[in-house]
Amino acid sequence: MFKVHAIPPDRLPELLSVMPKAELHIHIEGSLEPELIFELAQRNGVQLPYADVAALRSAYAFTNLQSFLDLYYAGASVLLREQDFYDMAWAYFEKAAADHVLRAELFFDPQTHTARGVPTAAVIEGLSRACRDAQSQLNISADLILCFLRHLSEEEALATLEEAMPWREHFIGVGLDSSELGHPPEKFTRVFARARELGFHCVAHAGEEGPPAYVWGALDVLQVERIDHGVQAIHDAALMKRLADSRMPLTVCPLSNLKLCVFKNLADHNLGQMLDAGLCITLNSDDPAYFGGYLNDNYLQTFAALDLSAQQAYQLAANSIEASFAPETDKRRWMHELKACFQGFAEQD
Ligand code: ADE
Ligand code: ZN
Repeated sequence: MFKVHAIPPDRLPELLSVMPKAELHIHIEGSLEPELIFELAQRNGVQLPYADVAALRSAYAFTNLQSFLDLYYAGASVLLREQDFYDMAWAYFEKAAADHVLRAELFFDPQTHTARGVPTAAVIEGLSRACRDAQSQLNISADLILCFLRHLSEEEALATLEEAMPWREHFIGVGLDSSELGHPPEKFTRVFARARELGFHCVAHAGEEGPPAYVWGALDVLQVERIDHGVQAIHDAALMKRLADSRMPLTVCPLSNLKLCVFKNLADHNLGQMLDAGLCITLNSDDPAYFGGYLNDNYLQTFAALDLSAQQAYQLAANSIEASFAPETDKRRWMHELKACFQGFAEQD
């Protein structure tokens, strides 16, 4: 086993950048950079209410989740054709490769697109083609997770799942996102039961802005395998114990939490406390085009703000591999790669 204490602290940023890691919480529509939004708007003849890239980017000043979602849905309005979905996902995969991401599980929101008349086929086939090319051209293992918009009804979620069934081989799980407050997990009991019956993995956003009760609901009622965000769990000791004892993964997104004012400063983030409490914490980017950073930016800025260690870097990367829905054989291979990477840093000193 490598000696993590033999890694000089000044080499930590380099180590964070090159260590192999998985990204488990990325909304692919949230990777749409302003430049690509304008390019696609022009390609598709869509009028945007912003004069240029700079004007759009300057609107990225959020006060809470809803203030962000309003812009995020407006940005997604330029996506119309299969090629648009491919181009968006491909741009993300190029960034992910630069960040040494070896596994990515991408959320997508079909209802955001079908509501505008975009066929489900264009959405899923474009994203799925990019996932295949990520594997063959960038050596990134990638899969899709279909998310239901929680501000819409459960009937609409059920219809969305049934509409996606012709492409059931193209996604591995279902998730729950959009406006959290006022839309508890229990609202989606039947659609998650149906998804489980169909053999899909289940995850849900819970405890981003919403109370610990929403995390309990996601666990006990939706029977999820991961909690997305979950940072509000810290306010409930029994819940923290449940999460730690069950090694329930949390996909935490520090730059997102900062930009959506869940924490005032990155130094106030509770990721270090949750790691110390023994939770299976992973680090992720959420909506990197909107929150000022991709996965390595999240690692680098969070480690600097919270003064985290090489041991914690190893723990986070190992957790991301453990918590992924990839085949066990791949996970074992990636764990060897992760150990070899740390070994290399320990030996050189
Ligand atoms: N959709 C995209 N990003 C989201 C977030 N951080 N929370 C809920 N829904 C989202
Ligand atoms: Zn999210």
